[in-house]
Amino acid sequence: MKTFPDLRLRRLRKSPELRKLLEETSIDRNKLVMPMFVDENLKRQEEISTMRGIFRFHEDGIVEKAKEYEGLGIRSILLFGVPKHKDSTGSGAWEENGIVQRTIKRIKEETKLTVFADLCLCEYTNHGHCGLLRGQTIDNDSTLEIYGKIARTYARAGVDGVAPSGMMDGQVSRIRKDLDLDGFADTLIMAYSAKFSSSMYAPFREAVFSTPSFGDRRTYQMPFTNTREAMREIEEDIEEGADIIMVKPALFYLDVIKAARQRFDHPLAAYSVSAEYSLIKNAADSGIVDLKATVEESTTAIFRAGADIVISYFTEQIFKDGL
Ligand code: PBG
Ligand code: ZN
Repeated sequence: MKTFPDLRLRRLRKSPELRKLLEETSIDRNKLVMPMFVDENLKRQEEISTMRGIFRFHEDGIVEKAKEYEGLGIRSILLFGVPKHKDSTGSGAWEENGIVQRTIKRIKEETKLTVFADLCLCEYTNHGHCGLLRGQTIDNDSTLEIYGKIARTYARAGVDGVAPSGMMDGQVSRIRKDLDLDGFADTLIMAYSAKFSSSMYAPFREAVFSTPSFGDRRTYQMPFTNTREAMREIEEDIEEGADIIMVKPALFYLDVIKAARQRFDHPLAAYSVSAEYSLIKNAADSGIVDLKATVEESTTAIFRAGADIVISYFTEQIFKDGL
């Protein structure tokens, strides 16, 4: 016996065309950001052993690659640098003509890409921490001065946005103030607001040689147990003047992305980090999952959770696969 009305949601799924019509979420390629690594020590590109298919580039190589990305239709990149010399204060990070500063300048001259640059010390310090040390602790307030200096060198190089990732308290307001005093009111800040202390960064630290030489990052990055604290971190960054807020990592933190979307009106970025890439990539390379399907599903999930912008190492793949 049929009941009436006869509720059949299957009517909505009859054909690929109909399914496409009824999609509530899709991957918006305009909102993808591709991370890129430039390494001052290299003469040619080198594949990152823990991230198959992702490379560190030398200076000329990254400019060529950026042009190729532009040709594919990619609009935005997030730059990371590996310097020749590391020291206790990470002085390579604020060199006027350092590796990231030179790369920003060239990519901005030779492409129309939107260029974000990660702003932190861990790639530049010999101890691998994101701030200056005082004994065995990471000193919040002296680090802020350095972050301000880095921001100004990036801005002078022509960066569109700085992306402070060190999770020091007050970093956004200090950077905003220093940028404004130097006449860079138009340089935007994409703040790594709710950045969790995560095992998912391990391949990245291999990539840029930034594994801390002692301890871990738990005194400054967030505990993965806490959502309300994440909301406070984001709220503070907004009060300090962040233009774009971020949740990182993405896939294990979809609930946090959703909570942030419901609570705040700022543009929200989600960073699908290095191990999220490698877990999927390695499973696909081993024949366990289909790469294209898994990339499509996982990236869609991040948008569905409420991210406006997705930073993903699969960006190039998504453009090439026509997803
Ligand atoms: C630097 C920084 C990290 C990432 C982005 N910026 C590493 C860390 O905090 O240890 C992680 C990116 C990734 O894993 O893809 N502070
Ligand atoms: Zn760092």
